[in-house]
Amino acid sequence: MNTPIYIIEEKLLRRNLSLIRDVALRTDSEWILAFKAFALWKTFPIFREYISSTTASSLSEARLALEEFGAKAHTYSPAYKDEEFDAIVSCSSHLTFNSLLQYERFHDRAGECSLGLRVNPEYSEVGTLLYNPCAPGTRFGVTADKLPDVLPSDIRGFHCHCHCESGADVFERTLQHIEERFSRWFPQLEWINFGGGHLVTRSDYDIKLLVRLMQGFHLRYPHLKVIFEPGSAFAWQTGPLVSSVVDVVEDKGIRTAILDVSFTCHMPDCLEMPYYPDVRGAVHVDEEQLRSGCEPAVVAGQHHCYRLGGNSCLSGDFMGCWSFDHELQVGDEVIFEDMIHYTTVKTNMFNGILHPSIAMLHEDGELEMLRQFGYEDYRARMD
Ligand SMILES: Cc1ncc(COP(=O)(O)O)c(C=O)c1O
Repeated sequence: MNTPIYIIEEKLLRRNLSLIRDVALRTDSEWILAFKAFALWKTFPIFREYISSTTASSLSEARLALEEFGAKAHTYSPAYKDEEFDAIVSCSSHLTFNSLLQYERFHDRAGECSLGLRVNPEYSEVGTLLYNPCAPGTRFGVTADKLPDVLPSDIRGFHCHCHCESGADVFERTLQHIEERFSRWFPQLEWINFGGGHLVTRSDYDIKLLVRLMQGFHLRYPHLKVIFEPGSAFAWQTGPLVSSVVDVVEDKGIRTAILDVSFTCHMPDCLEMPYYPDVRGAVHVDEEQLRSGCEPAVVAGQHHCYRLGGNSCLSGDFMGCWSFDHELQVGDEVIFEDMIHYTTVKTNMFNGILHPSIAMLHEDGELEMLRQFGYEDYRARMD
């Protein structure tokens, strides 16, 4: 196989989509795809078999919704710009403002869009600051103390995003805060959007609890349409990034397998979160324990341990360590699992590094190449 390459597996994607469609039915709510996590438009015909809308956070995403997904977007942007606003309106069915000032500046130009306000419940269990939208000083959403008793008459919905790869138990606690702070305005609304971060496709997600929560919510507020807009849940565990070993180097007893991919260019969340991705056929080991000799993999005698290094010039473009059951050789494949969400949408061409190809493995076993990248793509970005 020519590497590097992201491979989306149709069977796994359909499994997620079918589960999400089922959850939407059981919770009597609409589930839409957040493009910020996944936007490979050649796969949209498959998505259309299961869901009917998407969420956009920029003009380009809104256009992609209309032109490639074939439905107007639920759009929320932290800050709309004057010169883009009318085009965004023409691509959107719902439009959420992040602040009252943005609402005042633009609402008269929003045409037929159903308007919403992003609210901040000042409660989020997301531990990593980089991903916590409710941390003190946040720039996202209006807090309850700043809302007028009577909302402007053209506001139809609230939008609230405060989860990240979260379970239903987190949603249960967060919902209490949302209701405590904002339910007095619910009679004035038609819809509420509970944002993304609901990882319903993770195997341990408690779907029954989510169904119970939504049953209760619909009983309390029968007039409110409920929307969820996850991204990760759609593309969760739908395929790997396949790379190859290009060189093996050693310094101070640490061996690094240099790959034809880069963490900073092609798997940025690994460094940002940070988190250690699963590597097929290898076990992640603690580098400190490895040095001190107490790492179980070493004790078990299978210590073909390597840092995995990216092919960029960034010194920190590596992660460690993984233990393999064999010595790594130049040309060996190293396969990073679950590399479809928040990768292709965030990747960059730092150092002019070749971008991985993108392919889809169909259910009948055919590998369809969706896109290959080359020098011209790099050159076109540097004009
Ligand atoms: C406003 C909003 N909606 C939806 C999402 C999608 O979240 P996830 O991909 O974690 O489900 C995000 C992620 O940052 C977001 O900021």
